[in-house]
Amino acid sequence: MAAETPASQGPAAGGSAGVTGGSAAGWSDRFEEGLHPVIERFNASIGFDIALLQQDLDGSIAHARMLGVCGVISPEEAGRLEEGLEQVRSEAATGRFQPGIEAEDVHFAVERRLIELLGSLGKKLHTGRSRNDQVGTDVRLWLRDRIDAIDGALLRFERALLAQAEAHADTLIPGYTHLQRAQPLALAHHLLAYIEMAERDRQRLADVRRRVNISPLGAAALAGTPVPIDRRHTAATLGFDAIYANSLDAVSDRDFAVEFMAAASLVMVHLSRLSEEVILWASEEFGFVSLTDRCATGSSLMPQKKNPDVPELVRGKSGRVFGHLIGLLTMIKGLPLAYNKDFQEDKEALFDGVATCLDCLEAMAILFEEGLEFRAARLEEAVGRDYSNATDVADYLVARGVPFREAYQLVGSLVKTCLREGLLLRELPLARWQALHPAFAADIYGAIEPRQVVAARRSEGGTAFEQVRLQLERARQRLEAPEAGVA
Ligand code: ARG
Repeated sequence: MAAETPASQGPAAGGSAGVTGGSAAGWSDRFEEGLHPVIERFNASIGFDIALLQQDLDGSIAHARMLGVCGVISPEEAGRLEEGLEQVRSEAATGRFQPGIEAEDVHFAVERRLIELLGSLGKKLHTGRSRNDQVGTDVRLWLRDRIDAIDGALLRFERALLAQAEAHADTLIPGYTHLQRAQPLALAHHLLAYIEMAERDRQRLADVRRRVNISPLGAAALAGTPVPIDRRHTAATLGFDAIYANSLDAVSDRDFAVEFMAAASLVMVHLSRLSEEVILWASEEFGFVSLTDRCATGSSLMPQKKNPDVPELVRGKSGRVFGHLIGLLTMIKGLPLAYNKDFQEDKEALFDGVATCLDCLEAMAILFEEGLEFRAARLEEAVGRDYSNATDVADYLVARGVPFREAYQLVGSLVKTCLREGLLLRELPLARWQALHPAFAADIYGAIEPRQVVAARRSEGGTAFEQVRLQLERARQRLEAPEAGVA
């Protein structure tokens, strides 16, 4: 991306004078020659870290104010630095601030523009800090905000699931294990399982957020600074809960990025599993949902087709987020303390991981809001035409004193007979039930009726309608007044 940014664009671009106005390369006077143009491009992160501009300005304003409060610069100078930084913000808002790759990264780009605006006062901003603690601060501020956005997207997704669950409080769906018909379920019960997963995702992200929200600012390059700064002042201005206790750890820690990506990976796992179910449900073979025109696509060749592109893309995109997790772990694992340029690679992973996660949550929320309709008649028919009530026949005998394993064997043989004769259990005449075991009476037909099979599973957290109603109420309460920032 950096390669596409014209070097001559914008007011901050063009000059070869560096931040300090020193050498051709923009570094201290130790350097005499400029960078090789390919290396300049290779080294630059401005093409993507411009996304951190607002956070960089916020961090710099907090730093300037603190320098003023601590008497490192005068309050008047601090005020003018803040005005200059706000000027950069408004130039960016109107598209006038478009640094090219010679700025290297967003931090240099801002400082360079500030020096253009304020002259030598601008050169005081970097007192008592380094880009190492600065970039760590920016990334944490950015991620904190994005975690809050993902939390909001998870809530919307949960509300979409809940609305479907409430609309289908009495609808049944076949339940599967090994993708073989197992026992019928309340459809709401099935959807509520995904609400539980999303709630865990929210809790995990809230926990990650606690470790994201710690300030590294003032750790300087790695060892702290002799400048009499107040790290707690900048931390408070920026809304951090605490400061890093160790300056080396402060600039070396990317655990929070890994933790975030692990939490985001689980969000994607959950979305991907739900996607897989929707894809199956939308197939001719299952026929449990139909896709609305708003969220499905056609085939360029086969006019009869309606494709579930949304869940397929979500399922496919999950791999990107898992890849970023492994990428981050691998990037960090061999790094000696403290800052290493390898860390520059954390940004694109975070940016893409966050964008993917947010996009997928939003798309899945829309899919459940208006992209699919459960086919109640098909579902009704499906649960009535299988042997998923066989366990209930065994349970019937158990309730009448037959040991479970014995009942299980008897029903197994019964199912075998039915399969051979092409009969459903409910189609067997009473005489044949009684020939199998004298405990069977006419009420066996009611006991194996799908709605009764579901209603019977009253154990806590089971699929019985009354249990599901409790879950629905709890979910409704939780989603009407979600805890702020979760945990
Ligand atoms: N662009 C750099 C990054 O993203 C900023 C920090 C640079 N620090 C340094 N010592 N070169 O990590």
